[in-house]
Order: sequence, then C-alpha cells, then structure tokens
Amino acid sequence: MDIALTESQVMLRDMVRELASREIAPLAAQADREQEFPMRQFRALAAADLLGIPFPEEVGGMGGSTVDYVIALEEVCRACASTGVTMSVQTSLAASPIYRFGTQDQKKRYLEPLCRGERLGAYSLSEPGSGTDAAALACVAHRDGDDYVLTGTKVFVTNGFHADVYIVYATVDPALKHKGITAFIVEKGTPGFSFGKKEDKLGIRASSTYELLFKDCRVPAANRLGAEGEGFKIAMWTLDGGRIGISAQAIGIAQAALDACLRYTDERETFGKRLSDHQAIAFMLAEMATDIEAARLLCWRAASLKDAGKDHGEAASIAKLFASEMAMRTTTKAVQIHGGYGYTTDFPVERLMRDAKITEIYEGTSEAQRMVISRAELAAR
Ligand code: CAA
Repeated sequence: MDIALTESQVMLRDMVRELASREIAPLAAQADREQEFPMRQFRALAAADLLGIPFPEEVGGMGGSTVDYVIALEEVCRACASTGVTMSVQTSLAASPIYRFGTQDQKKRYLEPLCRGERLGAYSLSEPGSGTDAAALACVAHRDGDDYVLTGTKVFVTNGFHADVYIVYATVDPALKHKGITAFIVEKGTPGFSFGKKEDKLGIRASSTYELLFKDCRVPAANRLGAEGEGFKIAMWTLDGGRIGISAQAIGIAQAALDACLRYTDERETFGKRLSDHQAIAFMLAEMATDIEAARLLCWRAASLKDAGKDHGEAASIAKLFASEMAMRTTTKAVQIHGGYGYTTDFPVERLMRDAKITEIYEGTSEAQRMVISRAELAAR
C-alpha cells in the first residue's frame, strides 16, 4: 500500500482544511450549544463539491476515491464532528447504496442531487427493538399493486427531519428473518411518513437524530432499492463503507484534541516552565500523536481496499474499532491535560470528548465490530 498522499490529495486536504477552518470550525461551539443543525456548513461543503467525492462525475460526483473522501472527511470532523457526520451519512450511507444498487432512474432522481448537495440523505436501519441485532427489525413492507405499504418505527436516524431522502429497511416477511429485509428510498413528505422524538444527545449535538414513524405509508415499487430480500446485504455493505467514514470522523476529533493540547501546553506554565516541557505531559502528547497516526493508516488501508474493489468489511471494522476507542483515549487525555479548564466550555476539549463517544456506538458498536472481526478471522483459518 502506498501510504504517501499524492499531490492532488495534499491539495484536496489543504483546500478542505482551509474551508473547514474558515466556514465550519468557528460555528462548532455555538452549533453544539444550541443544537443547531449545520445546514449552512452543509451548503458550504456542497458549494465546494465535497458531497460526492467518491462518485464519478457523470452522476454528479467529484470523480475521486474513497481515500480522497476520508482525507476530506477527517478535516471536516476536525473542525466540527456534527457537520462531519452529516457529510458522512450523506455520502456513505445514502448516496453509496444508490450508486451501487440503484436503477438508472433512481440514480438520476436521487443520487445526482445527493452528490450535488441539493438534497440531504439519511439511512434508517435501527428500531426500538433492534440495534446491534439488525436482522431482527420489525418494520413491515407489504406489496400492494405498484406500491409497498410500510408500517413501523425507526430510531436514531442521523439527519432525520432535515433529510429529503431516506434509505429505509423493512421486511416483506418477518418469518424470513434477514432474507425478508428489503431496502426502499422514501421521500420526506410521503403520506404516512412522519417524525417522532428528536433525541437530546451527549455529543454531536448539532446533528439531528430523529425517530421516524411509518403508518400505511405507500412507497412506489420503483423506489425499492435492489431486490426483495436483498436489503440486509445492502445494509451491511453500506455499513462497511460507513464504518470507514466513522473511523475518519474519530481521527478528525482526536486530531482536534491534539491540536488544542499543543496550543495549550505551549502557553500554560506550571512550576516555572511550560506544560509541554514537563515530561509527563510531553509523553501524553507523543502517545496521542502515535495513536492518531496508527488509526489514520488503518482508515486509509480500509479505504484503499474498497477502492481496489476488494473485500473491505473486516478492514473497515478494524479501522472503526481502533479509531473510535483511540478517539476516546485521546480526548480523555486532552481534558486531563487542560485540568479544570478542560472540564469547562471555555475550551473545546470537553465537546470533543462528548463527540468522540458516539463513534464507539453508531454504525455498529465496538462490540459489533469485534463480532465482524472475530468471525472474519475464524473464517480465514
Ligand atoms: N456485506 C454483505 N453481506 C453481508 C455482510 C456484509 N458486510 N455481512 C453479513 N452479510 C450477509 C451474510 O453473508 C449472510 O448472508 P447469507 O444469508 O447469504 O448467508 C447474511 O448477511 C447474514 O449475516 P450474519 O449471519 O453475519 O448476520 P447477523 O445477524 O449475525 O449480524 C452483525 C451480524 C455484524 C451483528 C450485524 O447485524 C451488524 O453489523 N449489526 C450492527 C448494525 C449497525 O451497525 N447498525 C447501525 C445503524 S446506522 C446508525 O448507526 C445511525 C446513523 O444514522 C448513522
């Protein structure tokens, strides 16, 4: 694997870093405090053509790679993790399955506007009774003429309420278990589709997380994504890619924590010298930098396997598991280094620690990643 960035990747990284520090980072603390959806930030990403990075230009994308995408996503998350997850769900979870499994008509109607940022996307798999055990979902879809009729409740839907296009997983026959699960593209405003509770979260508070309610909601059969019963595989394939994105998010959050610590330890003095001159603190900075770099390489490795068209499920889970737990270690150290100030909202590190926690939970908990990794290792014996 070539681990050096190409010239165009360095240009992309620097461009996104500059954009994010100018238009996204200054809004992060207030957006978190007020739980204000980052629509302005999303528009800035759209204006810079950053919402369809890994898709070909003919479907509205940038014509880049998954590695390009995670390089950009890390920079966005370094500035604001809430904006980052909005971008990640848009690209990894909403646009990707349409690109891979959609019909020409679905690509025209949904993928192109998602890539251009004209419409916002969401992905809806979890339910009140099925999180990690995703195959146990209970939302039903009955075929009726040219439509499917959806009934059920979905939870923890990122971009919920604000999104225009939802990839919804429902079963055509619960007795078939995962083989009955089918994917649908559902538009906001479809009769029978409404929003329930908005979650009040520990972190990524500017992002929206909603419950979706489906009651006799008629979705045209033309909006079925893939074949009947193919939905679980679509959901899992999509999450393989999504988990690479979440590892990039965790790395961006951890890098922001290290950035804050480098600034603070250079300015603050104790016992007659700068904090950074105390070996106990300097060694913590070194551990943070090493941890971040290791996670970054795992993330790039998983992304390059995906770009090469190779199986990347285990690599994605390894990257997400390591990066998310690393982000918790790193942000916890960052709060500790800042002492009492780190525990206040005067410094960004408390927000980063709160934001890091979700990376160990969504798009598969660390325990779900361990299931994927151990099964792959056992199968490869
Ligand atoms: N790609 C394609 N197919 C896959 C696959 C993959 N990555 N993983 C499994 N499959 C296939 C299997 O080959 C199997 O197919 P066959 O029937 O042909 O044999 C089928 O799917 C069932 O596989 P398993 O028996 O392994 O499935 P399982 O029920 O044991 O589940 C699991 C395994 C890893 C725990 C899985 O359920 C899982 O990943 N759970 C976590 C779900 C999750 O990440 N949810 C997050 C939702 S999104 C979110 O967080 C909110 C947001 O908006 C960001």
